[in-house]
Amino acid sequence: MAKKVSILGFGGSLRKGSYNKALMRAALEMVPPDAELKVFEIEGMPIFNQDLESNPPEIVRDFKAQIRAADAILIATPEYNYSIPGFLKNAIDNASRPYGDNAFARKPVAIMGASIGNAGTARAQYHLRQCFVFLDMYPLNQPEVMVPFAQDKVDPNGRLTDAKTREKIKELLEGLVAWTRKLRKD
Ligand code: FNR
Repeated sequence: MAKKVSILGFGGSLRKGSYNKALMRAALEMVPPDAELKVFEIEGMPIFNQDLESNPPEIVRDFKAQIRAADAILIATPEYNYSIPGFLKNAIDNASRPYGDNAFARKPVAIMGASIGNAGTARAQYHLRQCFVFLDMYPLNQPEVMVPFAQDKVDPNGRLTDAKTREKIKELLEGLVAWTRKLRKD
């Protein structure tokens, strides 16, 4: 049997009751049998300073090593002011530097996102896809997992309860695994 596809997930919210963390927990429950998903907590990552990029802090070194070790990336993003949260962009910037040492290069990537508004992070997700161009990543185009009115889909215990959204996340994971296998010619 072909080697399992290892996926590294991370998300753009620090909030304890985060709906995006709920999406990532749901993903953890639905990983296909031929894959594994590990979540990296980017909380505490320092603000990027180019003067320090050649000698990054431990959390950045660890993040880059785990990205490199993974076959694919899964990002759960909130939408802040029609874009991705600064916290998430900062983590991406940290792992992409110094120039020539971008840990994300040529990694397949999938996105999901939840917001309390009606666009379900669509605008943030398209900004993120724009970053993938310079990062030289290979984004999965479909399905688009954009979860509007997330407050109605996550219960007080932080569990994603909406069946359709859970099904979409399952499809996203299956799609990412198939895309990764195709790219590495399994
Ligand atoms: C928001 N929110 C928001 N929602 C949206 O649909 N579009 C937007 O542009 C914004 N902008 C925005 C800016 C800032 C600074 C905050 C704090 C919030 C609301 C957002 O969807 C809501 O706070 C979610 O709960 C954030 O995701 P988590 O933390 O639940 O994962």
